[in-house]
Amino acid sequence: MDADFERERRQNLAGLARNTELQTTSRAFMVQSAAARYSYNFDWLGVPIIQYPQDLIMMQELIWRIRPEVIVETGVARGGSVVFYASMLTLLDGNGFVVGIDIDIRAHNRTAIEAHPMTRRIRLVEGSSVSEGVVSRVKELVGDRSPVLVVLDSNHTHEHVLQELEMYSPLVGRGSYLVVFDTIVDAMPTDSYPDRPWGPGNNPMTAVREFLRHNDRFQVDQTIDAKLQISVAPGGYLKCIRDG
Ligand SMILES: C[S@@+](CC[C@H](N)C(=O)[O-])C[C@H]1O[C@@H](n2cnc3c(N)ncnc32)[C@H](O)[C@@H]1O
Repeated sequence: MDADFERERRQNLAGLARNTELQTTSRAFMVQSAAARYSYNFDWLGVPIIQYPQDLIMMQELIWRIRPEVIVETGVARGGSVVFYASMLTLLDGNGFVVGIDIDIRAHNRTAIEAHPMTRRIRLVEGSSVSEGVVSRVKELVGDRSPVLVVLDSNHTHEHVLQELEMYSPLVGRGSYLVVFDTIVDAMPTDSYPDRPWGPGNNPMTAVREFLRHNDRFQVDQTIDAKLQISVAPGGYLKCIRDG
């Protein structure tokens, strides 16, 4: 990237970080679109992916920058996100692979993932992401590979995400990221999740705040928040700034 363009972009991002009017509009869009189940409308390479396109573009930037050997994701659902990460790793052309963890990998979802051209780079682990057995299986799969990028997108309660943060953060080294999806839940109206245990006050954002109170290896990458505006993970892109 040439220096002029880089400088313009930095100024642009600094402007976005100060632009409270746009931030308010973006937040209003997030609240309304989340209520309309916007994230359920997309596929990646033919597989349903429960994400906003902006977050996927951001993950693509991080993957290109970090060049992870392993991407660990909790919460597989129908498989679109593990296929997305596997396709990015294919473009990097190394030996990278994805470890996808889910408490319930339905047979038809597993069949679709295993039949997909990206399957070579996907390892599925079934079980709760916070059970000791699952964590040690993940560590075994990761081995001494590095860098590792971790994405948390399973059960969105405070307690569960905090446990995931404690258990999976040691895998992430300096320069890589720990991405916590659905921090946006904290900004949603209180009655948004009547059939879920999480909501404002009990969600990934509250877990991130508690985690960062005692962990100085990670910090929120605010440039990403300013850049995206539209994201399910405001305050959830955590950059690792210190070795463990
Ligand atoms: C939001 S969806 C994941 C979406 C997926 N990452 C995507 O982008 O398409 C959440 C998933 O977390 C799983 N889940 C819920 N509790 C879990 C737990 N304790 N451990 C692992 N996975 C869990 C659910 O079964 C569900 O498939």
